[in-house]
Amino acid sequence: MSLIEVRNLSRLYHMGEETVYALRDVSVGIEKGEYVAIMGPSGSGKSTLMNLIGCLDSPTSGEFILNGIEVSEMDDDELADVRNRQIGFVFQTFNLLARSTALHNVELPLVYAEIDSETRRERALEALGQVGLGDRVTHKPNELSGGQRQRVAIARALVNRPAIILADEPTGNLDSKTGVEIMALFEELSSRGNTIIVVTHEEEVARHARRIIRIRDGLIAADERISPEDRIQVGQS
Ligand SMILES: Nc1ncnc2c1ncn2[C@@H]1O[C@H](COP(=O)(O)OP(=O)(O)OP(=O)(O)O)[C@@H](O)[C@H]1O
Ligand SMILES: [Mg+2]
Repeated sequence: MSLIEVRNLSRLYHMGEETVYALRDVSVGIEKGEYVAIMGPSGSGKSTLMNLIGCLDSPTSGEFILNGIEVSEMDDDELADVRNRQIGFVFQTFNLLARSTALHNVELPLVYAEIDSETRRERALEALGQVGLGDRVTHKPNELSGGQRQRVAIARALVNRPAIILADEPTGNLDSKTGVEIMALFEELSSRGNTIIVVTHEEEVARHARRIIRIRDGLIAADERISPEDRIQVGQS
């Protein structure tokens, strides 16, 4: 079984008389260690799919199995538990605590997981090292560049050792060179066994992934593997 198994998943929204089909009967499998970009026009259902995979929302119908756990029928508390253990989120706007150091921002998920302070510090330093910020741990967000802030957010997503990292437009607030660096970092993390799913509007950004899933009107319109020749590699742009 795949790490992520989505079967005939639909998400409808009822708006008064009208029904919005945000996702219609979507089926897809994603394996451990994959690096996937999700593309599609505004309103096509990308965030809806990410919210379902991220256990932030429940489908109207269909099945979702994450790491062998049947998630689609869970209540909110069970979902929160799976989410805390299995998912690391990265956002367009970084969502860091402004008054806290990089180290404290990265430690935070471990505070919620009730991990002792020594282990917390050790793991947060390790995660910051993995994103290349070992020399910036006492900096606060306003003492870091945009790309460095997003690296702190990625370290925070990694620190719980989640099964999947979900990033919705992670390069949306970065210049294109910095965006490319963030995509290269994801590539490195995926080559170390992390599973990464990134939503992006930009073809240029998406081509750093190994697979592109295109969504249109709530349906998967295309699902392509990017061959090594067509992939944009680290150091190239
Ligand atoms: N809470 C909601 N209530 C009603 N309709 C919603 C809700 N959330 C999303 N939708 C609708 O579902 C569809 C898919 O929305 P979604 O946010 O997944 O799009 P998206 O592909 O992420 O777009 P964007 O690129 O602009 O972020 C849209 O038509 C949207 O209006
Ligand atoms: Mg969206």
